[in-house]
Amino acid sequence: MAYAFRWAGTMGTDNIQNTIISRAVMDAVMDPIFVLRADDHIIDCNAAACSLLEMDLTDIRNQQARQLFAQWPDGIIAALDFPEAETEIELRQRRQRSYRITVVSGHKDHEREDGWKILMFNDITGERQLTRELSDMNENLEQIVLARTESLQAEIERRREAEAGLQEVNREMATTQRELLLTLSSVVESRSRETANHVARVAELARMLGNLHGLPPEDTDILAAAAPMHDVGKIAVPDAILCKPGPLTSEERALMQKHSTTGYEILHRSERPLLRAAAVIAHEHHERWDGFGYPRGISGEKIALSGRIVAICDVFDALVNPRVYKAAWPIRQVIEQFHKDSGTAFDPDLTRLLLSNIDQAVAINDLWQ
Ligand SMILES: [Fe+2]
Ligand SMILES: [Fe+2]
Repeated sequence: MAYAFRWAGTMGTDNIQNTIISRAVMDAVMDPIFVLRADDHIIDCNAAACSLLEMDLTDIRNQQARQLFAQWPDGIIAALDFPEAETEIELRQRRQRSYRITVVSGHKDHEREDGWKILMFNDITGERQLTRELSDMNENLEQIVLARTESLQAEIERRREAEAGLQEVNREMATTQRELLLTLSSVVESRSRETANHVARVAELARMLGNLHGLPPEDTDILAAAAPMHDVGKIAVPDAILCKPGPLTSEERALMQKHSTTGYEILHRSERPLLRAAAVIAHEHHERWDGFGYPRGISGEKIALSGRIVAICDVFDALVNPRVYKAAWPIRQVIEQFHKDSGTAFDPDLTRLLLSNIDQAVAINDLWQ
């Protein structure tokens, strides 16, 4: 607060209140002001100061400030020991008012005989209240933020759990799908003249060739899961043809060869990547590299990689295992046959991969007997 006082420090102390400070100005100031001599006697004070002390001006004048404020908080007396000082006090007995106490001196040497001091009281109760309210608001805000953070963390945790649950369901569905395919393939297998575990061995051989070809693991997983379905279309081939011990007539062969198209028609409507892969394999596992296969007679890389792989694995398994109509071929003979069929019936690169890893293929065959 700015005071409209002008002090003339060189003037005598006797009439300071008359010559230096205008009474009107003094009393216009709403905050209590005391004018003290160097020996701490009060020379003058304003109306606000009288009301603060609840005393008349005549009773205040010439009182020792230290005596007058003896019962007040210590800060006031301590501030009077300095030429310039500022402190804050709280008066509990006076309606919880808070004051900032300021001491200023008329001389640097405030103990000079003609020196004087001003003791001002600024009511800072409102300011203190505002600070308290602000601090309470901050605390409330912190609590709100804390509660919101906790609820967000709980929400994140809940979503994480839901996501983990969903992943588990997806895993379960994928496993179920694979098991269903394998079961369905085994049912088809059990109707035909093929040996037990044929579809499981074809799956593992396809995985082996897929890996050797450099397919990523997720693709070889799908390839291995879809490969057992290659003959699913045989479900529509009558038993009389499927289980006929002798050679087939050309009519019967045509019906038998329909299994690749039937398998494709059963599977290709699905949106699932696994069933779509199975549809392609069912359709193309009897196509030949040279274009003389069936059902469409497509050739080379027009045949899907999965179809070319399963074609090799299907024939390899048929040759190295006994069937009701033939004995198992010795591995040397199987190798010779694949050398002969490379580039005609089969993709030469994939055939080379099989032949250079023939021990691994034989080990898979032995494992799945
Ligand atoms: Fe087939
Ligand atoms: Fe087969």
